[in-house]
Amino acid sequence: MIILGIESSCDECAAAVVEDGRIIHSNIIASQIEQHTPFMGVVPELASRLHTELIVPTVNQALQEANIAIEELDGVAVTNRPGLLGSLLVGLSFAKGFAATRSLPLIAVDHIRAHFYAPQIEHPLAYPYLGVLVSGGHTVIAQVNGYDDVEVLGTTVDDAIGEAFDKVAKHYELGYPGGKVIDDLARTGNPLAYLFPGTTLPNPLDISYSGLKSSVIHQSDKFWDQKSEKSAANIAASFERAAVNMLIKRIRLALEETGLRRISAGGGVAANSYLRSELEAFREGGYEVSLPSLTLCTDNAAMIAALGYHYLVDGITSPYSEAAQARVSAFKRNNS
Ligand code: KG4
Ligand code: ZN
Repeated sequence: MIILGIESSCDECAAAVVEDGRIIHSNIIASQIEQHTPFMGVVPELASRLHTELIVPTVNQALQEANIAIEELDGVAVTNRPGLLGSLLVGLSFAKGFAATRSLPLIAVDHIRAHFYAPQIEHPLAYPYLGVLVSGGHTVIAQVNGYDDVEVLGTTVDDAIGEAFDKVAKHYELGYPGGKVIDDLARTGNPLAYLFPGTTLPNPLDISYSGLKSSVIHQSDKFWDQKSEKSAANIAASFERAAVNMLIKRIRLALEETGLRRISAGGGVAANSYLRSELEAFREGGYEVSLPSLTLCTDNAAMIAALGYHYLVDGITSPYSEAAQARVSAFKRNNS
């Protein structure tokens, strides 16, 4: 089965052609980084306008690179939740029109579920496994029992980990997008230059990034050392170490509590080098670890098409009247 996937939930306009949920024939990502860089963050109105310009050429490129004729498609999978409403609407409206005029099934996909599914494309793990989702809007530790069965064990009570990376980078004017900039800078810094306090919450698997973010930002006088060329790198490395170690501590606890022996991670922050090396280290303890390649960590349409394939096989499709939803409550604890 060949599925066209479309993703436009934030600032990436993406289209992909995937066969049987595993074989990626094309995976096109039209980035808007250049246009958002002057603002050091995503400007929602600008993002949706750019999506309207980019969606047609991006889908065309995905079909051309895959060398697939429209007649060969079996369905259209599209992100309809969660994300920036204006951005979501562009991809969803295009997908609805494309599918309806060709009488193809439409499959509306939850972008967060797709991030949980992404590691399964290249290095599939048997269910159940511990799924870690770390993105710009979410931080979730979950037991993943099936492609559509995600049981939340712990989640952030305030900011997402990616948001903390982005805000720290913005505050210190390190560059945009923040996560990647901090990752690169941290490689030359001393992760023990500054020690930041951790947090304890009623549910030990929940996590908070607001305190860490605030202490890195609001005590900048204490950290910024004019005399040291390495100051920015030391802040980046120390912040990255604290943010990742907080997460690793919860992952270790979740593994102990659930007895799971397989781990995967998805979402933009799963591209972080330090987090990846810490997760890979679990292999030494006999755990199976599956991490997506970098293009499948950040927003992409291949994960949407791959997950959409499973819904289609199980006969789960969406009406052509499907709506976009900016927020979903599904990834709050005990409510999946
Ligand atoms: O999954 P994603 O592309 O979009 C959302 O669904 O949010 O994640 C974007 C987030 C941003 O906060 C970005 O700064 C972060 O992922 N990110 C990284 C890295 N690459 C992207 N954070 C840390 N290290 C990276 N290498
Ligand atoms: Zn995402």
